[in-house]
Amino acid sequence: MTTDAKILSALRAQPDGVSGAQLAEQLGISRAAVWARMDELRKLDYDIEASPHFGYRLVSAPDALHADDLLARLGKTKVVGRDIQVFEETTSTNDVIEKLARDGVKEGVVVFAEAQTKGRGRLGRKWMSPTHQGLWFSVLLRPELTPQETTQLTVASATALRRAIKNVTGLSAEIKWPNDLLIRGKKVVGILTEMSAEVDRVRHVILGIGVDVNQDAGEFPAELRKIATSLKVESGEEISRAELATEILRELDFDYARICGGKFSAVADEWEAGCATIGNNVSVQMGTRLIRGCAEALDDDGALLVRTEHGHLERVIGGDVTLEK
Ligand code: BTN
Repeated sequence: MTTDAKILSALRAQPDGVSGAQLAEQLGISRAAVWARMDELRKLDYDIEASPHFGYRLVSAPDALHADDLLARLGKTKVVGRDIQVFEETTSTNDVIEKLARDGVKEGVVVFAEAQTKGRGRLGRKWMSPTHQGLWFSVLLRPELTPQETTQLTVASATALRRAIKNVTGLSAEIKWPNDLLIRGKKVVGILTEMSAEVDRVRHVILGIGVDVNQDAGEFPAELRKIATSLKVESGEEISRAELATEILRELDFDYARICGGKFSAVADEWEAGCATIGNNVSVQMGTRLIRGCAEALDDDGALLVRTEHGHLERVIGGDVTLEK
């Protein structure tokens, strides 16, 4: 953890105030150095009060993502969030992670961007990533899974995101296979899983996650208004993106440990309980092929099993699923 992350962490742990002397001792730096760091944090819009009686007190934090702040809020995790980087703007956070992966960086690094100029979704679609309004981030993983098993990670991301949203906002999102979270039928989260693999071995997986957080309904482009929503629209409240981001990383870390520990069936059970797809009639567009039927279950790798109109059981690993009324 950096010095700033440690300072923010100490200020949060003692909301009534912490003395400069105590901080200096904890961090192994001089009181003058503590004072200088406080000044730098204030320049980033952290409102830090200083009084001779209470010491330093964190009054408020900005709604901007800062790596130090996120690391301080997150605390220790097993893998996800071991390192966090925040960009003001990038093309796509998946591109940044891809480069880190090729440079041999360890798994668990997370890259956030306040805005993406070329955010992408599944099936070659664009992903709108307006500045400071959502969470646009990617996670590098190097799981010991076969390429076929990586759908487990998309499934686990959906369960982790669902829990994090519930914990922070109280909202119950429904999962739509494989990668969407919906609230009242409108999409609020999209997950783009990209991987580099050999025939039987995964080199790395990139989980790219987009969460629409603080947009107002009118801020979505006209063509998305009927199908997309934000957590602010659904809860009626502005959401702290830093708090949500760290909760998501904590839950992702938990589910990644479940997958790596061979406990996919527990994740799958939770996924099925929160899923709008299972038990419903769906149509699945896979390239030029359209399948219609009832989504019955997930298989051991996280693929969707669809009983077609003709009674066959089809195993769906990709494509565009639409829930039929
Ligand atoms: C989808 O629903 O089609 C998936 C959308 C995924 C969007 C996220 S935003 C962060 C990461 N970077 C990207 O370019 N895409 C993913």
